[in-house]
Amino acid sequence: MIEFRGVHKRYDTGIEALKGVDIKIDAGEFVFIVGASGAGKSTFLKLITREEVANSGEVIVSNFKLSKLKKRQIPYLRRSMGIVFQDFRLIDTMTVYDNVAFAMRVVGASQKDIRKRIPYVLGLVGLQNKSKAYPMELSGGEQQRVGLARALVNNPSMIVADEPTGNIDPDMSYEIMELLTEINRRGTTVIIVTHERDLVKAFQRRVIEIRDGLVVSDTKDEEVASYEI
Ligand SMILES: Nc1ncnc2c1ncn2[C@@H]1O[C@H](COP(=O)(O)OP(=O)(O)OP(=O)(O)O)[C@@H](O)[C@H]1O
Ligand SMILES: [Mg+2]
Repeated sequence: MIEFRGVHKRYDTGIEALKGVDIKIDAGEFVFIVGASGAGKSTFLKLITREEVANSGEVIVSNFKLSKLKKRQIPYLRRSMGIVFQDFRLIDTMTVYDNVAFAMRVVGASQKDIRKRIPYVLGLVGLQNKSKAYPMELSGGEQQRVGLARALVNNPSMIVADEPTGNIDPDMSYEIMELLTEINRRGTTVIIVTHERDLVKAFQRRVIEIRDGLVVSDTKDEEVASYEI
């Protein structure tokens, strides 16, 4: 489902963020991406979402060869993924319901489908009673659950999250991670960049460690890579 073949990414500043990454992530996997600050983790995710493009090598996502992807095809690629941000990126002037509904409206869903789907996804993330609330009236953990609902609402085949628990307290972080595990159990591929060693240890999933632009370990072992934070 996701494959990197000899991927190099150099930014215009000359910095080489990825220096030849080869990795394969199958449909249905749950993967943590770890590594020190500046290692290249966000760059790795941005190449998957096509926010950035590789300088050489090939990135393949959901059968799209990204080096050959035309601009007008990008929306189709993005529809296969739900993206979760560290800073939530909710629209403050919209209710919880409308924040999530907005993601369906932009892809042209019918009012009928929206009315049916939103209560379901808000139920999944445990926010059925908050649909009329505004983001400012919610805790950080609740805001991120709205972010998750929004990512899920169009039924993506994968969820991509860059430090989704970076702005919330540890208990809430654990909850968010459990939700992501549940989403994965239902068949969605989940890729999470995190700095939180405790969460990585607690969840015991595949861990890909990036160091200085290279994948230096890839393990499903209980002995999670001894990465430095
Ligand atoms: N848009 C950009 N332009 C120039 N250099 C960039 C850009 N984005 C990232 N970099 C550089 O590329 C390298 C990798 O950055 P990246 O954001 O992928 O790291 P990261 O592992 O996500 O770090 P962090 O844990 O701090 O988020 C760093 O040296 C960074 O300064
Ligand atoms: Mg980053």
